[in-house]
Amino acid sequence: MISGKEKEMAKKAAKTFSVQLRIWRQTNRHTQGRIVQYQVNGITADMTFLDMLEKLNEKLLKRGEIPVVFEANCREGSCGTCGLIINGEPHGPGEHSVTCRLTMKNFNPGDIITVEPWRIKSFPIVKDLATDRKALDRICEAGGFISANLGSSPEANAINVPKEAAEEALAAASCTGCGACIAACPNGSAALFVAAKLAHLSIMPQGEPEKNSRAIALVRAAEKEGFGPCCNNGACEKACPRGIKKDLIAKMHRAYLRALLGMK
Ligand code: SF4
Ligand code: FES
Repeated sequence: MISGKEKEMAKKAAKTFSVQLRIWRQTNRHTQGRIVQYQVNGITADMTFLDMLEKLNEKLLKRGEIPVVFEANCREGSCGTCGLIINGEPHGPGEHSVTCRLTMKNFNPGDIITVEPWRIKSFPIVKDLATDRKALDRICEAGGFISANLGSSPEANAINVPKEAAEEALAAASCTGCGACIAACPNGSAALFVAAKLAHLSIMPQGEPEKNSRAIALVRAAEKEGFGPCCNNGACEKACPRGIKKDLIAKMHRAYLRALLGMK
């Protein structure tokens, strides 16, 4: 049985409206990009932002024009593939948002919405709104792992893990590598991403033996990829869809210093 309030909400959601999009179009990393304006009609409040972009693409295809390239995979906030700067904010309006879960109820009829890719030198543009974020994979390859002997599974209770450590490691491990923290940082710093990778491995007893070499490898890999230094303004934490805390950055700096000094 649908209540009156639900019917009212459904009616509101079905009402259509239009927005103006100012979208970054760029053929590839070697060409000059530019903002192009489009109108999108027939939008409902319950549509996601990506549904709305697909509506635009249908219109462009009908007109024989090239659709706008953007990235998405799971569309439920899990994979970290999507990511757009919407009106200057990574992943769109609000703290801890994620592009694929952003709905059009956050916008009003007639709004002019500017849509850009992550603006980071280390993430070259592939096409339009899609960027190459392999720099983050290379950082993980440098030190985002533990070394373990292969063989049969060890006894589950052989290594006891304190509850607090397990919870902190799990929270850090939820980083999807979306890159929003880097896009939000005025310095283009990957500090929150690196700190999350370091924390989720080094807090656990299994990752402890390599914590020094891991700290050095991860921090140096981020520097090599051209990411800037942390400016401690906290924009990364607000942009992170997983709510990863910037306290981890201080812990990373401590771990790096201790590793350089050869401390246990
Ligand atoms: S720390 Fe948060 S914002 Fe940064 S890459 Fe990981 S999930 Fe994305
Ligand atoms: S498409 Fe997977 S997090 Fe957005």
